[in-house]
Amino acid sequence: MSGMPVLYVIGCAAPPVLKIQTLITSAIDRGWDTCLILTATADRWLADSTNTLTELTGNPIRTNYKLPGRPDVLPPADAMLVAPATSNTINKWAAGISDTLPLGLITEAIGKGLPLVALPFLNEAQAKHPAFSRSVEILRGAGVQILLGEEGPHGLGGGSGADFPWELALDRLEPAPTNTK
Ligand SMILES: Cc1cc2nc3c(=O)[nH]c(=O)nc-3n(C[C@H](O)[C@H](O)[C@H](O)COP(=O)(O)O)c2cc1C
Repeated sequence: MSGMPVLYVIGCAAPPVLKIQTLITSAIDRGWDTCLILTATADRWLADSTNTLTELTGNPIRTNYKLPGRPDVLPPADAMLVAPATSNTINKWAAGISDTLPLGLITEAIGKGLPLVALPFLNEAQAKHPAFSRSVEILRGAGVQILLGEEGPHGLGGGSGADFPWELALDRLEPAPTNTK
């Protein structure tokens, strides 16, 4: 219990997740007690960085649901940031699917009324699928801030997301809510 507001960063398997350290460092600098939750695929992509990221956040990295009866290992969240958000996770989130820990957390966060920001990163073909625009509409209607670029989601031109607007996403969560725990 740090007394700082708690931010859950949910990282999905799109190229910018390989630079998630940038986001985490900035979130910590802004005063968030930062917890990293990775989708199973993102966890595989970051397998070599697990120790560094755990040390950086000071919290265990979570990917899987706990077993029934086990204690929560992370402090309760005050806000959540889904970045990068994949087409897969955005569409499942909008549909209310919660068959993984990251999806369960962000699905319930809507019901809890927590501040929620998502920064999608999709290629052009993924963005053109009709489910994506429908999902964005559903999630925005539920109060989720979905940050798109001028042309649509980031990532349309390919690349690794070197200019991914991590800071903009954090700006949207300011001022950080006061931790009440
Ligand atoms: C090299 C590579 C790059 C990918 N880039 C993207 C991407 O930019 N956006 C996206 O939505 N999915 C991308 N994918 C596909 C996702 O990784 C895949 O849909 C995965 O199931 C997403 O799972 P998650 O949403 O649970 O993280 C990429 C996959 C690979 C192998």
